[in-house]
Amino acid sequence: MAKDSDSMEDSNRSANASVHAVSDPARRVWLQGGLGAALAAALAPMAGALSGCASAAVAGPKLGFKSISPSTADAIVVPEGYVAEAIAPWGDPVGLPGAMPAFRPDAGNSAAEQALQLGMHHDGIHFYPLGDDGRRGLLAMNHEYIDDGLLHSDGLKTWPAEKTRKGQAAHGVSVIEVALQDGRWQVVRPSRFARRFTATTPFAVSGPAAGHPMLKTAADPAGRTVLGTLNNCASGTTPWGTYLSGEENFAGYFDGPEQPDAHQKRWGLRKATWYRWHEHDERFDAKKHPNEFNRFGWIVEIDPMDPTSTPVKRTALGRAAHEGATVAVTRDGRAVVYSGEDARFEYIYKFVSRDRIAPAGNGLTAAQANRTLLDHGTLYVARFDADGSGRWLPLVQGSGPLSAANGFADQGEVVVKARQASDALGATKMDRPEWVAVDAKTREVFCALTNNSARGQSGQPGVDAANPRANNVMGQIIRWVDDGDFDGTTLRWNHLLLAGDPANARPEAQGNLRGDLFACPDGLTVDARGVLWIQTDVGPTAMNKGEMVRIGNNQMLACDPATGEVRRFLTGPVGCEITGCTLTPDGRTMFVNVQHPGESPGERSDPAAPTRFSNWPDGPGAGRPRSATVVIRRRDGGVIGT
Ligand code: FEO
Ligand code: CA
Ligand code: CA
Repeated sequence: MAKDSDSMEDSNRSANASVHAVSDPARRVWLQGGLGAALAAALAPMAGALSGCASAAVAGPKLGFKSISPSTADAIVVPEGYVAEAIAPWGDPVGLPGAMPAFRPDAGNSAAEQALQLGMHHDGIHFYPLGDDGRRGLLAMNHEYIDDGLLHSDGLKTWPAEKTRKGQAAHGVSVIEVALQDGRWQVVRPSRFARRFTATTPFAVSGPAAGHPMLKTAADPAGRTVLGTLNNCASGTTPWGTYLSGEENFAGYFDGPEQPDAHQKRWGLRKATWYRWHEHDERFDAKKHPNEFNRFGWIVEIDPMDPTSTPVKRTALGRAAHEGATVAVTRDGRAVVYSGEDARFEYIYKFVSRDRIAPAGNGLTAAQANRTLLDHGTLYVARFDADGSGRWLPLVQGSGPLSAANGFADQGEVVVKARQASDALGATKMDRPEWVAVDAKTREVFCALTNNSARGQSGQPGVDAANPRANNVMGQIIRWVDDGDFDGTTLRWNHLLLAGDPANARPEAQGNLRGDLFACPDGLTVDARGVLWIQTDVGPTAMNKGEMVRIGNNQMLACDPATGEVRRFLTGPVGCEITGCTLTPDGRTMFVNVQHPGESPGERSDPAAPTRFSNWPDGPGAGRPRSATVVIRRRDGGVIGT
């Protein structure tokens, strides 16, 4: 999610930062002024420096393409020898048989039509092969948020219920079928797999919060069925073939009371909403239905291969402004799910399943055989200590401060109030944790900490070892290895890199990059060779100005984690963010999402001039810019990145 940082949620006023402030020698040096030893140490390149971990002996993957320059063009640019083509833009029909309304470039599609078309603002994405030849598959993808200035012909000039319904229909997740035909990947329409999940689709609730009093509403007195998924940001996939999607900044959809209670306040509920949905859909009026707010902020699981399956909100994974969910597998076959919470000073989580992943068989697909796997296990939150070690703190009712007397009556209340539970345990307040990526071979886990301009400001937490820069506009990538296995409760960490530009005057904006410049890491994907693909999300106000002036439009880079070398691979059109990346199993096709091309600083697009900043991907004569999926191949058919 781009948007300006000032509109980002910033709700953590817990006192637990003092633990780090006192114990962290880095901060003490910082407070003495100047470029302290803390920042100097952080700026020293640390790639490949997790001594003693599995990665130390592994040679890095070779980056075999010639890097491209920063760009401010309204175009996708890829290296010499590669081709990129946009498919599946917002508004194209997903391919439901007999229900394939064409996109209207004047935004004249109805809400009912939008519910049959790809949503807006593509984000996380994953490719699921159909057959063995790598030429056909499904793409599951998120539609994170909307721009009402582009979604409706006259923007917000009027506000009838139909516009709320259309906005809700443009959210959620799409499943489309794609195939390589005549040398080009195309959307297959109709397809029996095609599907839309929107902000009104019924989702089952599972895990400790299912049926919990905090999830019960007038419309759902059982607390077990929620209509819709919202603000779906990053994604993950499971070894049993399902798609995981994170409900990120859900707070902005609800209209709260003038004086929110402590729980509402901790979760960022405010009076103002982003979308005015509460005016036509009472669920989003938190004054009338306060528990509806607790029914979002979950990881949802979808089986893309079964169009009749019911999607599920997995509450055992904890409630958060979830960026996404990334799965690793322990040596004994249990699933570990890592997830960042993208809000300023929030946390990094992991869930370890109680049971082993079950194989398909006895008439069940793998997805069916593991339909309750993510409902039983242990949820943890991360603490990163100044000496390079760390600890996963269990979010388990009854342990430590998580008692009924402290407001955690049962495990359901712990997961609904995961932020308060993490505060109580003294977890580390991070610089907006975005995507997590795992290299199964080296056991390294990477998390993008996209930025945090509030770090070190008056009344806010200061720097700590893991978040070493005040007014951190550039972001960093933290890396750790869990001791023993992915279920380890201790870890060792360092920074893979600090983003920035050494030409900047301010030391905190210089970074320690080896190779091409970038800022605000967001999407992360590790490919089969161990290349870490980094996608960026500089907000529209900061882009191509000031300390970002030499960095260009948002982009994607390849990083060799063994050396830290970074090479720019793709640059996006004006105003977009690059987010979501998946490859075919043969590594010869990459799908990348381009979100909100033409997004303007601060406000929604002007419906009177929708192409003022961008006409991507339709080009001259386009009605409006559209998020879309970019298909990247090598002209010689080779493996991407080699
Ligand atoms: Fe939706 Fe944190 O980006
Ligand atoms: Ca993101
Ligand atoms: Ca982001």
